Amino acid sequence: MKTRITAAVLLVTGLLIISQSTQAQLPKETEAQKAQRMKWWTDARFGMFIHWGLYALPARHEWVKNHERLTNEAYQKYFELFNPDLFDPHEWAKMARAAGMKYVVLTAKHHEGFCMWDSKFTDYKATNTPCGKDLIREYVDAFRAEGLKVGFYYSLIDWHHPDYTIDRVHPLRQSSDSAYARLNKGRDMSRYREYIKNQVRELLTNYGEISIIWFDFSFPGKNGKDHNDWDSEGILKLARSLQPGIIVDDRLDLQDVEGGWDFTTPEQYKVSKWPEVNGRRVPWETCQTFSGSWGYYRDETSWKSPAQLIELLIESVSKGGNLLLNVGPTARGVFDYRAQERLKSIGEWMRFNSRSIYNCTEAPSGFTAPDNTLLTYNPSARRLYVHLLDYPMGSLTLTDMADKVKYVQFLHDASEIQFSRGEEGNRNDLILELPILKPNVEIPVLEVYLK
Ligand code: GLC
Repeated sequence: MKTRITAAVLLVTGLLIISQSTQAQLPKETEAQKAQRMKWWTDARFGMFIHWGLYALPARHEWVKNHERLTNEAYQKYFELFNPDLFDPHEWAKMARAAGMKYVVLTAKHHEGFCMWDSKFTDYKATNTPCGKDLIREYVDAFRAEGLKVGFYYSLIDWHHPDYTIDRVHPLRQSSDSAYARLNKGRDMSRYREYIKNQVRELLTNYGEISIIWFDFSFPGKNGKDHNDWDSEGILKLARSLQPGIIVDDRLDLQDVEGGWDFTTPEQYKVSKWPEVNGRRVPWETCQTFSGSWGYYRDETSWKSPAQLIELLIESVSKGGNLLLNVGPTARGVFDYRAQERLKSIGEWMRFNSRSIYNCTEAPSGFTAPDNTLLTYNPSARRLYVHLLDYPMGSLTLTDMADKVKYVQFLHDASEIQFSRGEEGNRNDLILELPILKPNVEIPVLEVYLK
């Protein structure tokens, strides 16, 4: 009897230990520690996203397999033809650096399931195509050599893996429960969950320090997938244990879990104000494309202008956020000429104006942006930056600033801007005297030294 009770106690204790260890907490952090861990990223403000995979060959959206409901067989030709003979990641990295970008995130695997590295856990990878290279290795080395922090995007969704169940965003999506049941017979998400972990372990072990990881994306609800389908907590614990400093997006469906995400990811739109969760401002980054799709899309004509893109960057910083701007390289392995042109224009602007971007954030309340301007602020230098989106005629008024300003200059050429106090009735305003001629800068910036 006694031994039976002891055995039962041991069994229960054992189970408790096991369940505790699988429920091990995510690393705990204070808000100040989190801000410190993310500091390089919030200071950097500007990164490059790269969506590259087999979808560069059809060149009509990275979701082409889904949009056209293609089977694995129909999609196979792209695998057999993938041969980016002009791929030179050093060239990419140089362009990113010249544009002023400080970090980079590349699709190691997108929804199509194709792996850009030599993963031990699949044959569906770049090394088995005519390309024959571990593209992740070359990417990581090249961007690091240019001084950028390196990150990965890893798709949770996988339209190729045999255990991944057909759901409502799958190319083989169905219209009835019975059809789903039939197609999903024999598919085993627990094996797929293992596959994710094995791959995340490879990516976060074999390529040195990885600064960012994007897991993309969850879609809870009927015929959807949520954190339980991925074992999001398990994935995140693994990622954090392998790369303690890593910065993680918010698409694992762990919004309500403490430590379940680091930053929020408004995609392809401008936020109206600094995003908040439970009344507190959170780190955020908007990801944006040049022309609409993420992967290379030959026939897209909706390319944003350089001015729009520069404004997007300023706008993000003016609300305390980052911009991750995407390039979709071609299947030859180069950046489309339109992307190159835009990166160059952004780089020209950044060369002279990046002081209003790096280490900057939203201006403190109490500073009013004049019409058609955006403000950013560097708290440690105590400088305010006024971005002139629509160049004014001769003068600009800074409301209630008369007693706050020491000196003002154009940022691009450090030329003085003279100022005076407003007339009777507006004595607190500061009137800046601007040249009539707009300087030869896409968006001119005033640098305001505060007292
Ligand atoms: C969406 C899309 C995807 C893209 C991503 C970038 O989730 O599914 O194609 O990679 O956004 O944020």
